[in-house]
Amino acid sequence: MKLKKAIIPAAGLGTRFLPITKAVPKPMLSVLDKPTIQYIAEELSSIGIEDIIIVVSPGSDVIKNHFGRYLELEKRLLEDGKTKLYEILCDTQKFNVQFVVQEVANGLAGAILCAEPFVKDEPFALLLGDEIIYAGENDKPCMKRLAEIFESTGKSVIATMEVFGDDVSKYGNIGIADEKDGVMQVNAIVEKPSVNEALSNNAIIGRYVMSGEVMGMLKNLTPRGNEIYLTDALDILAERGDLLASCFDGIRYDVGDKAGYIKANVEYALRSKEIGEDIKNYIKELAEKI
Ligand code: UTP
Repeated sequence: MKLKKAIIPAAGLGTRFLPITKAVPKPMLSVLDKPTIQYIAEELSSIGIEDIIIVVSPGSDVIKNHFGRYLELEKRLLEDGKTKLYEILCDTQKFNVQFVVQEVANGLAGAILCAEPFVKDEPFALLLGDEIIYAGENDKPCMKRLAEIFESTGKSVIATMEVFGDDVSKYGNIGIADEKDGVMQVNAIVEKPSVNEALSNNAIIGRYVMSGEVMGMLKNLTPRGNEIYLTDALDILAERGDLLASCFDGIRYDVGDKAGYIKANVEYALRSKEIGEDIKNYIKELAEKI
């Protein structure tokens, strides 16, 4: 079945980035010159997804504005013959984005459920709003790999990366029953396990393709405290043998975390034609001093 829709939950409180996130939603923090949410939406172009649902917190007009038009500036840039800047300005108009507000930040699954009226029982791509996955020229984009696996098997599939040592405790962790051609059959999930409890060295990251039944499963899950957990739905799928996982090419940046955010900025700056050389020289000079 062809994947047509994507959900980007971007309504978290962003507490790790206070005070900037008091007035600026975390997905609008910029890596080089682009907000993280735009990089994430761009990942979807590799699979031709047109309909994107962004789940935002109340008062996140700045995200809506970013995907909307800026008529006055468009006109000015055209009049001045600044076509390159005009293209940059209008780049987000290629996305067909709908917004839904998550009134109360009651967790990731709560955010996904806000998109239910748009997705209904169709399969959907899910891209967390605080991770960017960079694919180099020869890399197959992560979402493309997941979409291909979903479309050939019909099963939900999650992206995974290898982690070692204490890092296993930072992520959801998967048990692997079998692996063929890089596609893993997941048989269990543990949330942030201790090093001894970990089932494998494979962590769950923020890219998923969920089959059409997942939205219904989320609706029927019993909340734990005030929240329902996506992991509880993934658990059911894993037990039934209906959850797959795959590693991916490229580099994952955790831009929801301060260190990850700075690293992303440094690496994107180094790749930039405009300032890459300058930044490389600066880093070399700095490295000699520290
Ligand atoms: P995080 O767990 O990173 O939470 O959310 P957060 O609120 O964004 O950030 P911190 O930890 O307080 O700094 C993972 C993803 O799920 C979204 C976030 O926007 C992020 O993309 N999310 C989380 C929601 O959309 N709604 C929620 O209620 C919680």
